[in-house]
Amino acid sequence: MALQTCGLMSFDSLSFRKCLGRFATGVTVVTTRVEDRIHGMTVNSFTSVSLVPPLILFCPKNGTRTFEMLKSSGVYAVTVLSGEQAYISERFAGMLTDDADRFAGLGHTPGPLTGCPLLTGCLAHLECRLVDHHRAGDHNICVAEVIGLSAPGEGDPLLYYSGNYYQFPDRILPRPIAAPARKDL
Ligand SMILES: Cc1cc2nc3c(=O)[nH]c(=O)nc-3n(C[C@H](O)[C@H](O)[C@H](O)COP(=O)(O)O)c2cc1C
Repeated sequence: MALQTCGLMSFDSLSFRKCLGRFATGVTVVTTRVEDRIHGMTVNSFTSVSLVPPLILFCPKNGTRTFEMLKSSGVYAVTVLSGEQAYISERFAGMLTDDADRFAGLGHTPGPLTGCPLLTGCLAHLECRLVDHHRAGDHNICVAEVIGLSAPGEGDPLLYYSGNYYQFPDRILPRPIAAPARKDL
């Protein structure tokens, strides 16, 4: 089902992108397999949706090859990248050598449940079964049920913020137990 937009914009698309960029995310690679062909793309629109049943989503742009393939395979895997893997993110975003095999020289194993490639040396893997996809403007919302997972990595995550990569700052904030006092009261 296509989601409708109202079209009452009072801003340009650059401002929209800049504003959205202020939301920091992790970085994942979504992979799929159709028969012998494997492919994948860098994704930061990944998010959890439901615990019971276990659902996640990501939003691929219309026409991305990964999206076209996973509609046909019905399965995909999500690999969560670690702080040292910005080069993997760039490669799966087609920024390095788009015509070459994106997996070349990288360790990966077929997921035991889906056969989709799981990249090695990463923080976590989820194997998923596509449940539904909705057209939403120039992107799509792909909802999937998680059918297998592993979290082999202990490292720090790769972060993406305002168009730049960051590594986790070595600073854990104490969880606030009260709102700070307002100076203007
Ligand atoms: C950090 C980062 C996050 C990205 N997140 C998304 C995303 O959530 N959805 C999307 O459609 N493209 C996203 N992209 C762009 C795709 O990775 C890129 O268009 C890719 O080449 C699509 O591959 P494909 O068409 O071969 O499947 C992102 C790129 C980067 C660098």
